[in-house]
Amino acid sequence: MPMAQTQKQILAATVTKLNTRQDNSKPKSELGGIVVLDFGGQYTQLIARRIREQQVFSAILPCTASLEEIRAYEPAGIVLSGGPSSVYDKDAPVCDPAVLSAQIPVLGICYGMQWIAKTLGGKVEPVPRREYGRAEFRSEECLPAGVLLQSLPGKLKIWNSHGDSVIAVPEGFRTTGMTENAIAAMENVSRRIHAVQFHPEVNHTEQGTSILRNFLFAVCKAEPKWSGVAFIEETVDAIRKKVGGRRAICALSGGVDSTVAAALVHRAMGDQLTNIFVNNGLLRKDEFEDTLTMYRERLGLNVIGFDATERFLGQLKGITEPEEKRKRIGREFIAVFSEEAQRLSAEGRQEPIGFLVQGTLYPDVIESVSVKGPSATIKTHHNVGGLPAKMPFALIEPLRDLFKDEVRRIGRELGLPDEILVKHPFPGPGLAVRVLGEVTREHLSLLRDSDAIVRQEIRAAGLYEKTWQAFAVLLPVRSVGVMGDGRTYGLTVAVRVVDSEDAMTADWTRLPAEVLERISTRIVNEVTGVTRVVYDITSKPPGTIEWE
Ligand code: XMP
Repeated sequence: MPMAQTQKQILAATVTKLNTRQDNSKPKSELGGIVVLDFGGQYTQLIARRIREQQVFSAILPCTASLEEIRAYEPAGIVLSGGPSSVYDKDAPVCDPAVLSAQIPVLGICYGMQWIAKTLGGKVEPVPRREYGRAEFRSEECLPAGVLLQSLPGKLKIWNSHGDSVIAVPEGFRTTGMTENAIAAMENVSRRIHAVQFHPEVNHTEQGTSILRNFLFAVCKAEPKWSGVAFIEETVDAIRKKVGGRRAICALSGGVDSTVAAALVHRAMGDQLTNIFVNNGLLRKDEFEDTLTMYRERLGLNVIGFDATERFLGQLKGITEPEEKRKRIGREFIAVFSEEAQRLSAEGRQEPIGFLVQGTLYPDVIESVSVKGPSATIKTHHNVGGLPAKMPFALIEPLRDLFKDEVRRIGRELGLPDEILVKHPFPGPGLAVRVLGEVTREHLSLLRDSDAIVRQEIRAAGLYEKTWQAFAVLLPVRSVGVMGDGRTYGLTVAVRVVDSEDAMTADWTRLPAEVLERISTRIVNEVTGVTRVVYDITSKPPGTIEWE
């Protein structure tokens, strides 16, 4: 599987890490929300997003976070996430039991519920039959209804995933719901501790949002005040305070994250921010020129467009191995970017450059603090090997508290055009991983023309915003054909269109036959040198989205 190595990761590895805020204080809009303590569950990020959808801020901390770290957020409540372990495993993750007596409301979900039960003297045992998937939850026999279940039907279809279950609730607790095999909900109203065995955060759970809302608003009395506008104002303020009169640079990739980050920082410091957009010669048809124009004319950004096509293609000469292509492109990108940054820094008339702006998102941050058991290992996932010595810049990462959908919303608030906000993801190494085998100018040109047709037809069919990615791949495979009276022996284009939520899994898109037909006919007629078109019907897993 190709290692996703983005420009962000490559750049971040070369600079001193420094957040927008250096001290421990949190911005005002992040206070009074919910702290989600992570036991390593697959849905932890989803819990945090669901809470934010209710306009309540949520921060994910490893379960090993100290009470002091938790209190820094002045949280209205704490959620204990699910996790893959059994509470009886030798190295089962735990959090500080003081969390349960800190006078802060607690919601335990799945493993979180089991940990609460075990810690407070209840009984947890392996269930005779592991419950996984859909189940029926009944609260109608446990009246009066628990606070989390108020105004909800007495029977709900829920989503379960557990091997242990609570068989006796701790003293002071009351069972508020059951599934066929297990106690599925409990509460201690006076201590404001609530727990459910199932996953209210997943869509398959009926009324899951209502259960979370009951926790947020009925139990925690949280205020729904997490909004894009407040975030923009606070971030702009924080950046102004931090940079003083110094300058910053930003590497734009043409994608949503770097564009929103640059637009936000530009609002704070205007033309003290210089952006660099590098043409690596591996962009799609007309992309360099069109994106540059959009940055300058529609967003008013101060952008240097740097054409380094020759340098990148020179690095790729004779290279066929995908990871080697990625490495060389990453290295060359850093070389080009640092040279340009140094040139700018050396411009004596202006203030020195002190900062590098990055579009790091919350999932990248969480990934580097997530836990595997109690010995929380911090992954330095930004560290990409083989990079040059540190650049003398500190990082500004204005999006590091946001999920992708929130970044789009902030982008919309900032007035960014739709064409950037709904743009399909595009890999950092660009078309180099879509020209299979050696990357030559001729093959790049065939791929660009074919790819443009794929995207035009997908747009024309109204499918661009419904699909995750849609692109062409050029295969170094020749096949025989006939055109007019002549025999052809040309190359093959594979068309790849996928549906996905997050690129972790993907399904091939069932395109209408007419759309496939138009794509195929146009490519073979309009792109001289390509004589065959195939459609990729591999899902991920087992395939990946990209071919290299
Ligand atoms: P795969 O091919 O691993 O791709 O299923 C998942 C998502 O990541 C993108 N991708 C990359 N992005 N650098 C990037 O910035 C890379 O090297 C890279 N490889 C894959 C891919 O387009 C898809 O959205």
